[in-house]
Amino acid sequence: MYGQLSQADIDKDLEDPTRIQFWYFRATQVRTKLKSSDQRGFIPAMNFGTYSKPAQYPMAGSLQDNFPSTPGKVKVEKSNYFSRVANRWQSYITAKFSFSVIAVVFLLVFAAFSVSLLGAKTIQQVTPWKDPIWRARVKHSCLIKRDNGFLVLVTGASGFVGSHVSLALKKRGDGVLGIDNFNNYYEPSLKRARQALLEKQGIFVVEADINNAALLQKLFSLIPFTHVMHLAAQAGVRYAMQNPSSYVHSNIAGLVSILEACKTANPQPAVVWASSSSVYGLNTKVPFSEIDRTDRPASLYAATKKAGEMIAHTYNHIYGLSITGLRFFTVYGPFGRPDMAYFSFTTDILEGRDINIYQGPNHVDLARDFTYIDDIVKGCVASIDTAKKSTGSGGKKKGPAQLRIFNLGNTTPVNVPELVNILEKLLKVKAQRNIISMPRNGDVPFTHANITLAQKELGYNPTTDLHTGLKKFVHWYRNYYSQPSAEK
Ligand SMILES: NC(=O)c1ccc[n+]([C@@H]2O[C@H](COP(=O)([O-])OP(=O)(O)OC[C@H]3O[C@@H](n4cnc5c(N)ncnc54)[C@H](O)[C@@H]3O)[C@@H](O)[C@H]2O)c1
Repeated sequence: MYGQLSQADIDKDLEDPTRIQFWYFRATQVRTKLKSSDQRGFIPAMNFGTYSKPAQYPMAGSLQDNFPSTPGKVKVEKSNYFSRVANRWQSYITAKFSFSVIAVVFLLVFAAFSVSLLGAKTIQQVTPWKDPIWRARVKHSCLIKRDNGFLVLVTGASGFVGSHVSLALKKRGDGVLGIDNFNNYYEPSLKRARQALLEKQGIFVVEADINNAALLQKLFSLIPFTHVMHLAAQAGVRYAMQNPSSYVHSNIAGLVSILEACKTANPQPAVVWASSSSVYGLNTKVPFSEIDRTDRPASLYAATKKAGEMIAHTYNHIYGLSITGLRFFTVYGPFGRPDMAYFSFTTDILEGRDINIYQGPNHVDLARDFTYIDDIVKGCVASIDTAKKSTGSGGKKKGPAQLRIFNLGNTTPVNVPELVNILEKLLKVKAQRNIISMPRNGDVPFTHANITLAQKELGYNPTTDLHTGLKKFVHWYRNYYSQPSAEK
């Protein structure tokens, strides 16, 4: 049949490129059929290859050249050197191109996967409340297990004072939720260890910054907190010279963020928060009383705490928030802060390092009104129990609200050399003492609390002397750091 085509038919078909492809396709079919009977020579016989390829149909030629019916068996016409090189390059480039495409696709898939993982993590961190498990943990942590129990949000819950207060509230049946950003001002592993203790008692610590307004708002919409125990802060007097902005971030912006959330909440909670004995600054009149002047801070830390007291006054005045400020005096005890002298002295004495003991002007020993953690916890809990309700709702004040400030100290200051004497006895190791003049780094020469007001209003009555308290601390310290997981 193919052999019967007239020249005119073929010329007509050559006018139309699709027809040329058709004919080439038909020829390929025939060649495939005939190859077994060794009749491949038929194809040129049907005159297909006798037509010179018209320049306007280059496709026809290329199709003819590159479509072997049986790869590997067809007789390939010998091409010239340049076309062989060109062919080789074409295959090489095609292979390279395919490889590049595969590599790009692989990279894109990998990138998309990583981004989605990262995105999921970010969403977890930014909007944890979208996770039903997270919400369930929050609610479970806030279960009240006593009549007329409170719902307390404790900020800085993985901190020294925060962890002890959280445990005390939980123990008596209040619903407690913690929040802490686990910053690395001191060993975060210690904060994690406290968190693990709280978790064991059913207290969930939300890992977040108190400046996260969206998160706070969400927490207040989930839980009608009756009280906020605000203990999150950048503590430490000397560190303020290294990292001043951390004090502004946590102690000023953070406090405002908490008070904003409390003011908007409906019902508004009562707020109890930690100020500091450092607000007494360079005062020389002892013991320090709440009515003494507090406008001469000796450190940025003290200045941020003083600023906090004034900010608290404003929120009480404008929004009707019930606010109690507590001026703690050098708190110490188990699970304490490694940056504080009693703690770092213990480490250094046990490891045989020298300890620096500062002296004030005229070689006067520094003295502190060391206050044991259990006494501080009692003062915090009594403040919660005696706090009156806030009077505002949804950001509007409906009447005057309670505003209080209390010293929580021990009333029996001990000088630093005496503190070291006690530690030497408890540790049974002699300290290597360096007596040096106190640098101007924010420390004050002495603190001494007048606690009359707290005694009267809170029933606060500290009962632990320094020797007894340090004995408990040393006992904890030895246990804690003998565990392989503990870091110093
Ligand atoms: N320990 C003392 O002797 C003493 C004395 C006076 C006042 N205070 C005050 O008592 C409070 C508790 O002190 P502490 O000794 O337990 O200190 P701490 O450092 O052990 O606890 C504070 C906790 O707050 C967290 N935190 C800090 N900034 C935060 C932020 N922006 N968002 C979320 N969490 C944040 C920290 O991670 C830490 O766990 C602080 O306000 C401190 O200024 C303590």
